[in-house]
Amino acid sequence: MESKDDVMDYFKIDFKYYKQRASVPSYNDVLDFDDVDSVLRKASKVSLLESPSIKNMSDTKNWEAYHLNTVPGFYFIKNVLTREHQLYWARRSLCDFTRSPNVTNLDQFQAKESVDKMWENSESEFLTKSNFNIRESEIWAVRWATLGYHHNWNTRNYSKRHRSNVPDDLAAVSGNIANALGFEDYKAEASVVNFYHSNSSLCPHQDLSEVDLTYPLISISLGLDAIFLIGSDIKTEKPEALFIRSGDVVVMSGKSRTAYHALPRVMETTKMRLDDESDFLSCYLMNSRINLNVRQVESDKSVLPED
Ligand code: OGA
Ligand code: MN
Repeated sequence: MESKDDVMDYFKIDFKYYKQRASVPSYNDVLDFDDVDSVLRKASKVSLLESPSIKNMSDTKNWEAYHLNTVPGFYFIKNVLTREHQLYWARRSLCDFTRSPNVTNLDQFQAKESVDKMWENSESEFLTKSNFNIRESEIWAVRWATLGYHHNWNTRNYSKRHRSNVPDDLAAVSGNIANALGFEDYKAEASVVNFYHSNSSLCPHQDLSEVDLTYPLISISLGLDAIFLIGSDIKTEKPEALFIRSGDVVVMSGKSRTAYHALPRVMETTKMRLDDESDFLSCYLMNSRINLNVRQVESDKSVLPED
């Protein structure tokens, strides 16, 4: 039975509405930044600081950035990654970010050497098996990888002793995004890479494990489109719903850094051009969404405790 608290929890009500599979929800209230005129009642275009050109992302002058006026500190940036960049980051996520020294959801069930081989095993099955089903392939089972400070899902903490490095290319791209919005000296110290399929969702939560919450959280999306909910730090407040598509970047800073958010629905469509039927990466991205969620954990002012 639903308690009075649940009834008042407008965030949860919207989450369940967009997650439902019994019937298709209405998308009329979902903000769509690909239809700019429709979002301008709630969002304003922002100008970016020019950053130096770096590899694996477009130049800042090509980006299009918006601030969601109803959620202070929440930015939506388009055109940060071309199709080639999106393919680069998807390959990095699947082939490299799941490997040692990074940690994945599968590591507690199988030897790391076998996790390290799951992409090439799945790809070779794809190339050789006539009745190949991606849902039965090894790579389908990977749900998350952690890089840098490894987030502990049970304690919701980071530990000084459980750390690897955030790869340089990912740190450079996230640093560039932070700089373009005026956040200087951003250090990518932890990342969660989420792998979703079209029936996956991510429940309402706040990201509060980082000891310095003044630096932005940077989130890069690849593959299938999705609906994202962003609220405030009170979960009884009704959230905004928006479409997030491949190559879009979301930045949660200021008040929105500690806001409740969720991903109730992964759609079965993608704006990526994925027409190469002989390519396993395209096959994966036609059926999945990848989210690179990058955080700065500590700063000169706030450091992780010794443990
Ligand atoms: C997270 C998160 C959102 C997304 O990993 O904490 O909120 O877009 N991800 O997948
Ligand atoms: Mn989150």
